[in-house]
Amino acid sequence: MAHSTSARLLQRGNIFLADYWILAEAPTHCLNDRPQYVAAPLCLLWLSPQGALVPLAIQVSPAAPPGARNPIIPRSSRTQLSQTPGPDSPIFLPTDSDWDWLLAKTWVRNSEFLVHENNTHFLCTHLLCEAFAMATLRQLPLCHPIYKLLLPHTRYTLQVNTIARATLLNPEGLVDQASPARTLCPATRLQAPSVLCPQVTSIGRQGLLYLMSTGLAHFTYTNFCLPDSLRARGVLAIPNYYYRDDGLKIWAAIESFVSEIVGYYYPSDASVQQDSELQAWVGEIFAQAFLGRESSVVLYLVRWLISSVTTRIVAFLTVLLNCSSCFSASPSHSLFARQACRATTLLILWNTAQKPHGPASHCSVTTSN
Ligand SMILES: [Fe+2]
Repeated sequence: MAHSTSARLLQRGNIFLADYWILAEAPTHCLNDRPQYVAAPLCLLWLSPQGALVPLAIQVSPAAPPGARNPIIPRSSRTQLSQTPGPDSPIFLPTDSDWDWLLAKTWVRNSEFLVHENNTHFLCTHLLCEAFAMATLRQLPLCHPIYKLLLPHTRYTLQVNTIARATLLNPEGLVDQASPARTLCPATRLQAPSVLCPQVTSIGRQGLLYLMSTGLAHFTYTNFCLPDSLRARGVLAIPNYYYRDDGLKIWAAIESFVSEIVGYYYPSDASVQQDSELQAWVGEIFAQAFLGRESSVVLYLVRWLISSVTTRIVAFLTVLLNCSSCFSASPSHSLFARQACRATTLLILWNTAQKPHGPASHCSVTTSN
């Protein structure tokens, strides 16, 4: 009965999976002699007739994964969780006790915070936009039309990233501190709220670097093409998805604007191909932002073969402008509204029943941010 219901839901396309695989081998931090915890949950979601995405089942495991890498604390005392199915990977359901189900959802919130802030926000907007900005400044002369098009979109990119590297990401910086510190916001000189300056997280600086390097190694061009990304994730049609609704309108406006600029300065494919500065600019972005991985663009090769060169450059510029405007604004501008609430922003999950470096119990946890 349950199986036939699940099969029916799957056929309707009403089932979604939030997969936090990237956390499965992330190094964890040790704060105040207490090992920290990271989960890599799988969360099954159901799109209800009312248009809400409701969690159906959550798999969370307390077992250390085989081949765990770069442990900050000894493997024997690691409490990291893996996605390996089996008896040690319990699947929680809404029919479990209220506290068990709440705790499973809490692990998902914690994982969501780590992936969203480290990769979706910092890596995909701040750092990749810096790679775009550096390529623009290095490869295009001031009089180049594409330089003029892109320059307004590089404003403050280097400045804010320099501040982040000096105060947030540096060794012993805010992310790496082993105990909460009272910190003044460098911009306002006021006490920084913990939501804006998270002094401690369960993964620390090493975990942050691991997440970003792993994420970068798996990024593809699709991640940055909004229509393709929405289609690949199967969320083109779900209701009440305002990021998609607004984002597609802005994407279309950017694409139209870029088309006119490119059409004016590049009347033919040959004019694009003969622009050595533009070719060098694209080459640097491919090398620095996509690490020169051909696999990151493989899905586009057929499309590119049948499209004109000017079409390809329009698409590429649309990706960059959207990344530095619409996509960057999405995680940044909503930061306080989304994360000011402790119940939805869980930087650390502490096991209160555990002695330092003792065995883990995933059922007795308090939260802190
Ligand atoms: Fe930001």
